Amino acid sequence: MAQKLFIKTYGCQMNAYDSARMAELLAPLGFAAVAAAEEADLVILNTCHIREKAAEKVYSELGRLSRLKGARQAAGRGMTLAVAGCVAQAEGAELMRRQPAVDLVFGPQAYHRLPEMIARAARGCFVLETAFEVERKFDELPEALIPGGPAAFLTIQEGCDRFCTFCVVPYTRGAEYSRPVAEVAAEARRLVAAGASEITLLGQNVNAYHGREYSRPVAEVAAEARRLVAAGASEITLLGQNVNAYHGRAPEGVGSWGLGRLIAHLSEIEELLRIRYTTSHPCQMDDELIEAHRDIGKLMPFLHLPVQSGSDRVLEAMNRRHRADDYRRIVERLRRVRPEIAFSSDFIVGYPGESEADFAATLDLVREIGFAQAYSFKYSARPGTPAALMEDQLPDQVKVERLRHLQALLARQQRAFNERSIGERVEVLLERRGRRPGQLAGRSPHMQVVNVAAGDELLGRVVEVEITDARAVSVAGRLADARPNAPRQLAPPIKEARIPA
Ligand code: 5AD
Ligand code: SF4
Repeated sequence: MAQKLFIKTYGCQMNAYDSARMAELLAPLGFAAVAAAEEADLVILNTCHIREKAAEKVYSELGRLSRLKGARQAAGRGMTLAVAGCVAQAEGAELMRRQPAVDLVFGPQAYHRLPEMIARAARGCFVLETAFEVERKFDELPEALIPGGPAAFLTIQEGCDRFCTFCVVPYTRGAEYSRPVAEVAAEARRLVAAGASEITLLGQNVNAYHGREYSRPVAEVAAEARRLVAAGASEITLLGQNVNAYHGRAPEGVGSWGLGRLIAHLSEIEELLRIRYTTSHPCQMDDELIEAHRDIGKLMPFLHLPVQSGSDRVLEAMNRRHRADDYRRIVERLRRVRPEIAFSSDFIVGYPGESEADFAATLDLVREIGFAQAYSFKYSARPGTPAALMEDQLPDQVKVERLRHLQALLARQQRAFNERSIGERVEVLLERRGRRPGQLAGRSPHMQVVNVAAGDELLGRVVEVEITDARAVSVAGRLADARPNAPRQLAPPIKEARIPA
């Protein structure tokens, strides 16, 4: 019987990616997505724990859902309530204690076992799965295939080993894990075949990427050869940039690629026009990655590179392992190799012990660099992190005031950046309908939201737009030219050929 599924996603793009994969995993079991929890037999909250507010929002949503579940049960219909993601990982059994209506709690590394967990919950068991097994998750999830539109996300790395003192990620997402190059490349090709022209490579610490190098495992090569023959091929040419370096599956830990090399490799997919990656750590901007910004036109001239603070004292207390000047130097190097590159960042204000002078150093850094956009947050103590135990926590009032000050400066910079682009011609990937009828919206290479009067036939195309107007968080423009990326002819789905035993 068809069942209805509602997934509510909180937090980062990685959670959005995971939610899409969960929906794919459940579709063959008869779960169809619906737009509201009220209609759903299974509700999954895919949660975020990075800041306090996010977790509190989950608890308040759970309150609402538990009443909804009660009402449905009274009407003779059940509802399975699941909490996934980082709040689930961090809170575990506490979640079920605080909210008994919850049936399933599972962390980001357990999604691939969702069907089995749902079956257990249906038998009336409480299900709690918060172990770390990243590798199996990627091995066992079905291949990502949802046509996610022209701009797609691809998770290449998960977890983090850096242990910034304020951050829950190393605890909720676990140790750093990079997916092998072949797996990432295959997923990128599938996304492009399904219509994506832009791919954003995702990871909590994405430039820590060190995927196993590209030699496709023997079994995979043999299976593809059989499929090609079954489909009529009589001759097969084995391809590779350095094909006689082929050595099947490399032993664990031997031969890995950094992010720069991975991007270079993916840029060879012809119909992939744009590549982005997020989120990075300044200490891992290695030469190869900086050179990728110089050499690979498809790598967009925009980098989200969190600095958190401009004060060396605070950076040290945060265990960031770089100084403000290191950050300045990286920005300088990137600007030298790619003069048009624009930057975005994350900032935390009111870290324990942050003085007025420390905060002033952050403002100085912001003024010097000039950001195209940025995110800034009040420090929030996360249970289990070292900073939460520090004694010199600042009063909320101080944090609020500093945040207001910093956000005003960042907003001025963003508006100024947008205003400077008036008169420029930029390439825009039109991703969706705009707010007004007859309008489409997309992103410039610099990640600006661009609104433009254009017909639906241009959806999914890269067009040249002349920017005519700047707002606080978007720009508007007029169509200058439709670029020669012709409407995409989508490949028919590949049929799995039967392989004779
Ligand atoms: N308090 C406030 N902001 C935080 N971030 C991470 N942990 C915290 C915290 N405890 C911010 C950082 C990070 C972004 C994703 O969230 O700026 O880069
Ligand atoms: Fe968290 Fe990023 Fe630091 Fe890792 S590098 S601990 S994800 S802030």
